[in-house]
Amino acid sequence: MSKSSASSNLKTSITVNDLIEMKQRGEKITALTAYDVTFARLIDEGGAEVILVGDSLGMVIQGHETTLPVTIDEMVYHTKACSKGVKRGLLVADMPFMSYQASVEQALMNAARCIKEGGASAVKFEGGEELAPTIRRLVEIGIPVMGHVGMQPQRVRMYGGFGLQGADSAEAKKIMRDAEAVAEAGAFAIVLEKIPRSLAKKITEKIKIPTIGIASGPDCDGQILVSYDMFGLTDQFKFRFVRKYIDMAQEVRSAVGKYRDDIRAQTFPSETESFE
Ligand code: KIV
Repeated sequence: MSKSSASSNLKTSITVNDLIEMKQRGEKITALTAYDVTFARLIDEGGAEVILVGDSLGMVIQGHETTLPVTIDEMVYHTKACSKGVKRGLLVADMPFMSYQASVEQALMNAARCIKEGGASAVKFEGGEELAPTIRRLVEIGIPVMGHVGMQPQRVRMYGGFGLQGADSAEAKKIMRDAEAVAEAGAFAIVLEKIPRSLAKKITEKIKIPTIGIASGPDCDGQILVSYDMFGLTDQFKFRFVRKYIDMAQEVRSAVGKYRDDIRAQTFPSETESFE
């Protein structure tokens, strides 16, 4: 099989190189999280270039207060479901807490599960300089890696919350060093989470790979949001950095109310909605 006919058979049409070229052309990257086949398909059809199966599923799907309890088995399960719905975008699996930090071997085996069993095209993990050897090894054997620096939710117990990182100059320097180390190790993109806009701009100008921002201002090469926040499903919380593009929580409550009214009025199901 020729290389071009082989690549036209690939299920995903956006590659890691496409994202790097988008940065070079100054085209902004759209990324969103997904956790199941239905939303993954809709987000893909809506035109997101990157679909991240985020470990945020620990909070928005499983109801935990942090992402810490999420397991690699759960990530593989959700990634597999999402992979059935994604045809165009780059599907990235997030590696959960303690599925990659213990050793390079542990990271390799768990990243391989995300690719082989989950059907992801790439993996993402949180961390900076300390994870450069792990990133280098994964990339060496052909697993694309997305980095994640700034506010790293898996470090919530160290921070004592999910607050802004990089506000003082020592922290900002450390985050810059982390981003440079991740890029030099061969990551194809990097998430910048909850850092000051000016720092995100400096990092974006300095490194060659695309920066995907969340709560880090408009100067990143792309933006990512937790889809449930952007869809207005998590309306028990209010986040300054989230723009709600649809009020799905209200739509769902109102649909359930109408359904209940129809059942009580005995107008559902109708003749045409029943069988002889
Ligand atoms: O888990 C997640 O959803 C993430 C994004 C917010 C970047 O890491």
